[in-house]
Amino acid sequence: MSGNKESSDGGWRKFMWNSEKGEFLGRTGCSWFKIFMFYLIFYGCLAGIFIGTIQALLLTLSNYKPTYQDRVAPPGLSHTPRSDKSEISFKMSDNSTFKKYVDSMNELLLKYDEDRQTAQGKYESCGENPDTYKEQGGLEEGSGQRTSCRFLRKWLGDCSGLTDNTYGFKEGKPCLIVKLNRIVFFRPKGPSNNSTLPEALQGKSYNNLIPVYCKNKRPEDASKIGEIKYFGFGGGFPLQYYPYYGKQLHPNYLQPLVAIQFTNLTIGEDLRIDCRVFGDNIAYSEKDRYMGRFDVKITVNS
Ligand SMILES: *[C@@H]1O[C@H](CO)[C@@H](O)[C@H](O)[C@H]1NC(C)=O
Ligand SMILES: *[C@@H]1O[C@H](CO)[C@@H](O)[C@H](O)[C@H]1NC(C)=O
Ligand SMILES: *[C@@H]1O[C@H](CO)[C@@H](O)[C@H](O)[C@H]1NC(C)=O
Ligand SMILES: *[C@@H]1O[C@H](CO)[C@@H](O)[C@H](O)[C@H]1NC(C)=O
Repeated sequence: MSGNKESSDGGWRKFMWNSEKGEFLGRTGCSWFKIFMFYLIFYGCLAGIFIGTIQALLLTLSNYKPTYQDRVAPPGLSHTPRSDKSEISFKMSDNSTFKKYVDSMNELLLKYDEDRQTAQGKYESCGENPDTYKEQGGLEEGSGQRTSCRFLRKWLGDCSGLTDNTYGFKEGKPCLIVKLNRIVFFRPKGPSNNSTLPEALQGKSYNNLIPVYCKNKRPEDASKIGEIKYFGFGGGFPLQYYPYYGKQLHPNYLQPLVAIQFTNLTIGEDLRIDCRVFGDNIAYSEKDRYMGRFDVKITVNS
């Protein structure tokens, strides 16, 4: 038994290093060297082709303007807190049930703190009334970074988190914060025809504002939603925050926000709410649940 083992060990050792023939793992040094050189050149060429292709592609791209944009206008409308299956469900007496919602709103609003918007030359005030587009040149002009309009958290009133750090959740009056997704160099247009707007929005003109409006999705919920309050610039997205010049030229850009507070939701029922933005170049799609609109199910339990 032990002799057998010795001889098999010897065979293995001989295969590893055969001192008679000068072979390592069954090959001579020269043979190993040829194999090594072959693979070195082979992989070198592969890497060269790979890098070359990417470089050629990069040369054709602009630093500032997206060449391939699959999400061209119209923009998506997104909301915070966002949750699985668009369901927001909590118990107002148990703050652990809405902690995740509050946390996500705190995170979003962090960069809207007033003291983060003080840097000279990066931020400016663009007024507190809706105004026309703030043009700052074209995308290709290398004239440096564009300034960003301030958007102060306190404008969101009861939904700013400054007066109530649970954003209304502990009173069963939850807030949602809504924003239009950024699209480089997109200029959203306000609604030019009053008569296409929901009744509640009619009677005003919206030259420089993209209004947001929410209502019950199902007719049977009509009486259960209660009053909805809108905070921000008159309940919409003001045009002076557009166009957006992209990450490189507009690094401090702040998207305008609208906060929506549901102040009198019926307790203990699943309520479906549909929110939309209204503008001439904003469309809706059956396929894309967030294109210009979203719907959310809210359940408040006591
Ligand atoms: C929840 O409320 C309790 C009592 O008011 C408080 O001690 C606790 O810190 C709160 N928890 C969170 C996550 O806010
Ligand atoms: C507004 O829309 C209504 C209904 O689509 C149409 O009848 C009316 O002519 C439009 N008005 C203007 C000024 O475009
Ligand atoms: C919208 O309605 C208001 C009030 O009825 C009116 O003053 C305004 O001119 C209308 N705007 C448009 C674009 O039709
Ligand atoms: C809240 O809604 C109920 C009906 O659902 C209504 O009776 C009550 O007056 C409303 N409260 C306020 C403050 O609007």
